[in-house]
Amino acid sequence: MSERELSVRQASTKKQIDAFLAKQIQALPDHAPRLKNAMQHALLVGGKRMRPLLVCLCADTLDVSPDDALAVGAAIECIHAYSLVHDDLPAMDDDDTRRGQPTCHIAFDEASAILAGDALQTLAFDILTTQLSIHCTCEQRLALIRATAIAAGYKGMCGGQAMDLAATGHTISEPTLKQLHQLKTGALLRLCVEAAIILAESLSVESHTALLAYADNIGMAFQVRDDIIDVTESSETLGKPSGSDEKLHKSTFVSLLGLDGAQQALKNYHTQALQALDTLPYNTDLLRQFADLMTQRKY
Ligand code: IPE
Ligand code: IPE
Ligand code: MG
Ligand code: MG
Ligand code: MG
Repeated sequence: MSERELSVRQASTKKQIDAFLAKQIQALPDHAPRLKNAMQHALLVGGKRMRPLLVCLCADTLDVSPDDALAVGAAIECIHAYSLVHDDLPAMDDDDTRRGQPTCHIAFDEASAILAGDALQTLAFDILTTQLSIHCTCEQRLALIRATAIAAGYKGMCGGQAMDLAATGHTISEPTLKQLHQLKTGALLRLCVEAAIILAESLSVESHTALLAYADNIGMAFQVRDDIIDVTESSETLGKPSGSDEKLHKSTFVSLLGLDGAQQALKNYHTQALQALDTLPYNTDLLRQFADLMTQRKY
């Protein structure tokens, strides 16, 4: 199977997700136009759509309805977009560009950016409760809502962001940094795989465990790669300010282990992700290519 297959899939998923999300924003009434425009800016301008792609690839593997996968991917992308808007605020990373555009609080204002993040987070739950097909049972819907709430909140992304802030300007241990990365970034990527598992009809305990091990390793790989490209790529390539972590004295894999150490850690997470797939009784070619992409991405 050629690498082209994943890029074709990536492009088609991006197109479908962009159309789905645009429809959600268009459907909002017009009583707060500035907020609606800020949400549109945060959600629809750019973005690689890696999380929806991961949901769709796992859904294919587990024979889950592509329409339900798309809706769940869209909900997760709303949570992700909200996390970026708040991550860029002056109270957090204070960054001026994102996805090659002014960040939400620069294009609008801080209050609008805070509200856009809040409203994008609840839009995710709106999508999960209204956009799934009749094939999806009440138990599955509830499980998806619960998994999303956990991954986005204290036990997931928000908890990780709080650890990131607490670690800023300090030297922390490698296990603490690993936990920080697992929560702030890994939790939403794990959710993408978990969501497909929830929607699947049946799955062996072994396959369930292997898929989550894959998810956890690509989650780590994704953030370690993010730490690396923050120092190796230009702001132009990244679409966000390069060198932001060093400027802010962030605890990253690069600041803790050096560039070579971070590269080695990335290699290990990549290998472990592929090893987890070895045990699965499915065609995992595209999931393998996705792990390669996580490890090699330049932005
Ligand atoms: C950036 O995520 C933030 C991290 C969790 C590292 P992405 O690299 O997926 O950002 P977009 O959505 O493509 O802009
Ligand atoms: C942020 O990590 C992860 C989120 C939960 C948004 P970073 O702060 O490293 O993400 P970037 O580099 O700004 O995209
Ligand atoms: Mg941050
Ligand atoms: Mg940031
Ligand atoms: Mg970063």
